[in-house]
Amino acid sequence: MVRKRVLSGVQPTGAIHLGNWLGAIRNWVELQENHETYVCVVDLHAITVPHDPKQLAENTLRTAALYIACGMDPAKSTIFIQSQISAHSELCWLLNCLTPMNWMERMIQFKEKSIKQGDNVSIGLFDYPVLMAADILLYNADLVPVGEDQKQHLELARDIAQQRINSKFSSNGEPIIKVPKPLILKEGAKIMSLTEGNKKMSKSDPNDNSRITLLDSPELITKKIKRAKTDTTIGLEFNNPKRPEADNLLSLYSILSGLGREVVGKDCAEMGWGTFKPLLAEATISALKPIQTQYNELINDRGELDRILLEGRANAEEVAQKTLSRLQLALGLLRKN
Ligand code: TYM
Repeated sequence: MVRKRVLSGVQPTGAIHLGNWLGAIRNWVELQENHETYVCVVDLHAITVPHDPKQLAENTLRTAALYIACGMDPAKSTIFIQSQISAHSELCWLLNCLTPMNWMERMIQFKEKSIKQGDNVSIGLFDYPVLMAADILLYNADLVPVGEDQKQHLELARDIAQQRINSKFSSNGEPIIKVPKPLILKEGAKIMSLTEGNKKMSKSDPNDNSRITLLDSPELITKKIKRAKTDTTIGLEFNNPKRPEADNLLSLYSILSGLGREVVGKDCAEMGWGTFKPLLAEATISALKPIQTQYNELINDRGELDRILLEGRANAEEVAQKTLSRLQLALGLLRKN
């Protein structure tokens, strides 16, 4: 049986946090068991906002090492760096010429991110979702496991594939390219900030206390959780819109402890914040410990990391070039014989 194909990625813009892990990477790790899985570090996306070159190179390697530390297995999945496959940029241009401006003007993340950039908004930031569509379409992905915030970008990728490529350029009625589907987890797809329960946990939040990164020390985790915003009600509960912090921290506890929502909901229904917070800190520290141990081993073995990324690059290149050539031909671009 042909296995379905999965593609996803994370930007190396800062340290990977609990939201990235629980909303996306955790899902990749499960999917790789019975899917053909491609995951990339999307460094070209990271330069859509001002960046420090040294930091970017460092973060790119760290992000790849974290994928593996979280459980991505190079023997089962293709792990690669986006910018090392030139087909991503090439397909992006082709898609730019097929994508209507007014589709792009609806993109909520661009509106949010561009406000933060003031007068310095790059064309790259506006074009970010088209590059993302190129990432996905190049690998003919069936499924794209992402957090809730990427839903709109996935819709765009689907619309480009269906309406702008398959309907317009297929010469025999057969689709030229696969129309991908988003895969969004029921739990963990939108982890909120620790300091503002109505804002999503984000790498770009200037307040470090708003997120827990996968490499935070036990002391730092305890400190951040101690400082996390709470309310004055005793007893924790899910799904009360007036208590977003309770919902978020309880959800985190339910996933990180592995106890699940039912048990945690009952156990914590009458618990005060002062008793709950150390439990959450403990669960977070234990969940991250194996990731941190494996990360430290790998980051100190650059040879092994380089080898994995070289192999990933070769696998990705082969698939990406085939799709790119097919599209170039369909669009009437002359190919070398
Ligand atoms: P990035 O780096 O912003 O996020 C990486 C993944 O983490 C998810 N995520 C969250 N999930 C739950 N709660 C949160 N607070 C939270 N914050 C982030 C994101 O939804 C994402 O799945 N544009 C993508 C990167 C990308 C990509 C792709 C993804 C580029 N090309 C192709 C899939 C396929 C992004 O948001 O990166």
